[in-house]
Amino acid sequence: MRSFEELERLHGQALADLAGALTTSALETWEDGYLGRKGQITLQARRVGQMPKEDRPAFGRRVNEVKQMLQGAYDARLEEIRRGELSRQLADEAIDITLPGRPVIPGHLHLTTQALRELYSIFAKMGFEVYEAPDVELEAYNFDLLNIPEYHPARDMWDTFWVQDAGEGGDRRLLRTHTSPGQIRAMRERYPEPIRVILPGKCYRYEQITVRSEHQFYQLEGLAVGRGITMTDLIGTIQQWARLYYGPDRSVRIRSSYFPFTEPSIEADIDCILCHGEGCAVCKYSGWLEIAGAGMVQPVVLQNGGYDPDEWSGFAFGFGVERPAMQKYGVKDIRWYYGNDLRFLRQF
Ligand code: PHE
Repeated sequence: MRSFEELERLHGQALADLAGALTTSALETWEDGYLGRKGQITLQARRVGQMPKEDRPAFGRRVNEVKQMLQGAYDARLEEIRRGELSRQLADEAIDITLPGRPVIPGHLHLTTQALRELYSIFAKMGFEVYEAPDVELEAYNFDLLNIPEYHPARDMWDTFWVQDAGEGGDRRLLRTHTSPGQIRAMRERYPEPIRVILPGKCYRYEQITVRSEHQFYQLEGLAVGRGITMTDLIGTIQQWARLYYGPDRSVRIRSSYFPFTEPSIEADIDCILCHGEGCAVCKYSGWLEIAGAGMVQPVVLQNGGYDPDEWSGFAFGFGVERPAMQKYGVKDIRWYYGNDLRFLRQF
């Protein structure tokens, strides 16, 4: 009889312990302790052999019943705890999908690059291709071949940064002071084809930096060489560019001027984009804004490029890229362009 009492006591104890097991690891300990190979219920089952014969069937049946009931209780409890642990884990690791994301701030093209690309597309419509020439130039290309000999006073128009190492043939090197040397490069490469190119690029001048002038800036040069090209073609090209870039009802004014590499030389103005000719601070109360230097390619320069001036003629123009954009957007200080201040750059 004592064996039956012992079994029922163990049964009750096991159920109480099971209710107190709160984690899967506590459940495993419980299973080892009661139902495992050396568990207390398992040991009870082994005792059957030592019992009086008449008790054996009843005890054996009861042990099996208890074992099955405990196994069932254990399975149900395990399921319950697993579910609890899972939902706790889900709650702990929950992602709040209603939180706003962290913004990714995309970069964008620099104001100068935007202006250059707009200019490329305007000139592309007129059949000009982009031709790139080097920033570090030979003295001959920047000056001599453009009809500016060493002691010519016109050299003073371009204060120069010199590079210490000499170039090919011992020629002095410099940072190009304008994009015009690209005219010679384009002509020497393209002869005897007609030419219609624009030459964009950075130029460098040994100058005081002010709100209106930087020592590095972009220019865009244009060059057309062909048979029978005239001043009319040049003026028409400038007018078309001015209207596409500054607005359809711009007036263009042509003044005579001087450059050693063009003859005749001109300067082109447009009526002020701000006051339309009334007079304001942007146009310094003249009503006009200067937009380009230009002219018919000097015969000597054509010859230096390989073209016979008796057969060929051409026009060239050149202008700064930053200043028109300054006027368009009302930028008051040219130094902001390359000052790397995002507060400025993000506005464009
Ligand atoms: N290179 C000249 C300058 O820097 C501009 C120019 C280009 C003038 C082509 C005439 C023809 O001022």
